[in-house]
Amino acid sequence: MKQKTVFACQECGAQSQKWLGRCPECGAWNSIVEERAADAAPGAAAADVVKRYSLAASAGPQLYADIDAVVAERLTTGIGEFDRVLGGGVVPGSLVLIGGEPGIGKSTLLLQAAAHFAQTYGPVLYCSGEESEHQIKSRGERMGIDPSTHSGSSRATSRDERAPLYILAETCLERILEEIARLRPAFVIVDSIQTVFSLRFQSAPGSIGQVREAATQLLFAAKGQNIPTFLVGHVTKDGSLAGPKALEHIVDTVLYFEGEKHHSHRVVRAVKNRFGAVSELGVFEMTGTGLRAVPNPSKLFLAERPVNAPGSAVLCCVEGSRPMLVEIQALVSTSTYGNARRMTSGLDQNRLSLLLAVLEKRAGLNLIAEDVFVNVAGGMAIDEPAADLGIVAAVASSVRNRPIKPSTAVFGEVGLAGEVRGISQASLRVREATQMGFTRCVVPNGNCAPEDTPAGCEVVAVKNVSEALDELMDW
Ligand code: TYD
Ligand code: MG
Repeated sequence: MKQKTVFACQECGAQSQKWLGRCPECGAWNSIVEERAADAAPGAAAADVVKRYSLAASAGPQLYADIDAVVAERLTTGIGEFDRVLGGGVVPGSLVLIGGEPGIGKSTLLLQAAAHFAQTYGPVLYCSGEESEHQIKSRGERMGIDPSTHSGSSRATSRDERAPLYILAETCLERILEEIARLRPAFVIVDSIQTVFSLRFQSAPGSIGQVREAATQLLFAAKGQNIPTFLVGHVTKDGSLAGPKALEHIVDTVLYFEGEKHHSHRVVRAVKNRFGAVSELGVFEMTGTGLRAVPNPSKLFLAERPVNAPGSAVLCCVEGSRPMLVEIQALVSTSTYGNARRMTSGLDQNRLSLLLAVLEKRAGLNLIAEDVFVNVAGGMAIDEPAADLGIVAAVASSVRNRPIKPSTAVFGEVGLAGEVRGISQASLRVREATQMGFTRCVVPNGNCAPEDTPAGCEVVAVKNVSEALDELMDW
C-alpha cells in the first residue's frame, strides 16, 4: 500500500499538507507532527466501514413520521452516582470517554463498573495498556471485587461460577478488535486510548492520528455490534484531553474526573452527553476499598463548617440537575505591600475582582488596601453566577468581622449596579437548603415564589446587595 504523509496538530487535530511551526486552527506552537497514513482511494474508508459493520445498510432515506422511536433500555453500572452522570445508566452501543488526571481514579471506577457488569450482563473485556493483568488483579483484590457470579444471576451455572470479567493487557488496536469480535462482550473498556496503536499508522501511540484511528475503529465496533464501550483518556497539562477536538466529537458522552489530590472526594462531570443532561455531576469518595458513591454531597461539603465564624457563607448552587450546598470562605486582611492581593480557589478570580468593585461602590466597603482570599471549602469548583451573592456575603462578613446569621443559606447573581438578579431553579435550591436543616434563605427578589416555599423555611427576597447584607448580618 502506498504511504502518504500528512501533518496533524496534536492539540486540535487539524491537518495540513506541510509542516508548520504554529497550528493555523488553534494557534498552538510546535504542535504539528508528521503522520504516515495508508493511502486509500476516496470513499474507500467509508465503503470499508459499510462492508464490515453494515452501518449504512439502510434502504435509503426514511420518512420522519415512519421512524419508530426506540427507547433504549439503560444498563446499570451498579454505582448510583455513575449512572446519574451517564443520564440514568449506560446506553447500549454508546461510546463514552472518561478523562482525568493520572491517579484520580479512572481505572478504579471502571474496574468497579466492569465487575458489576460481568456479574449482571455477561462478558466484559477490560483492555489495559497501562497495567499488567497481575496489577489489575491485585487492585481488584484490594477493592474486594468478587470473582464469582452472584447466585441470583440468571447466567450463573453450576459448571462455572466465575464472573466473565476478561482482562487483556494489550495495546495493539487490531488485536483488541479481534478479541472483541471473538468474545462478543457485553461491555468493553479501553484503558487508555492514548496507549493504543494501530498497525496501519507508523506514528507513535498517543499521537493524534493513532488516537483518532483507535477511537474511530472502537466507535464502529461499539455501534456495529451494539457494545457499550468506555475509553479512558489522559488530560494534558492545560486540562484538556490530548487531541480533545478529535476525540470529543467522535464519542457520545464525555465525562471528566475532577478533584484534588489532597481531598478524598472526586467529582465526575458530564461535559457532553447525547443521552442525558450535560454538567450532570456524580460525587464519589476515594476510600481504601475503591470509590464510594456519595448520594448526599451537601453533607460532605458542609461537614467541617465552622459555626458562627466570620467570613463563612453557605451557598446553594446547582450542577446539572443537582442542587448542592457549599461553603464559601473569605479572609480579608490588611495588605502589607502596596499591591493588594486577590486570590481565589474554586472560583474565577476576575469574577471576584468585579464583585469587590461592586461592594466598594454600592455597599460602601473599603477594600482597596486589603488582601482578599476566597475559597470554596472542600475543593469544589463553582462557575455559576448564582454564587455571586454568597461570595459577596462571605467577603463582607470577613471585612466587618461579623458572622452570618445562623442557619441561613444564600444565592443570587449580582449585577454591576449592585442589584441582585434572579437565577434559575430557585425552588430546587431552597428545597435542598431546607432538607439540610437551613431555616432561612436569602434569595433574589425575582425568584420569590411563595407558593413553592417548603414548610419550615423562611424565604427572604432582596433587591440589592445592601439589602442582602442587612438581612444576612448585623454589619
Ligand atoms: P487509578 O484508578 O489508578 O487512577 P487513574 O486510572 O485515573 O490514573 O487510581 C489510583 C489512585 O487511587 C491511587 O493514588 C491510589 C488510590 N486508590 C485508593 O485510594 N483506594 C483504592 O481502593 C484504589 C484502588 C486506589
Ligand atoms: Mg489508570
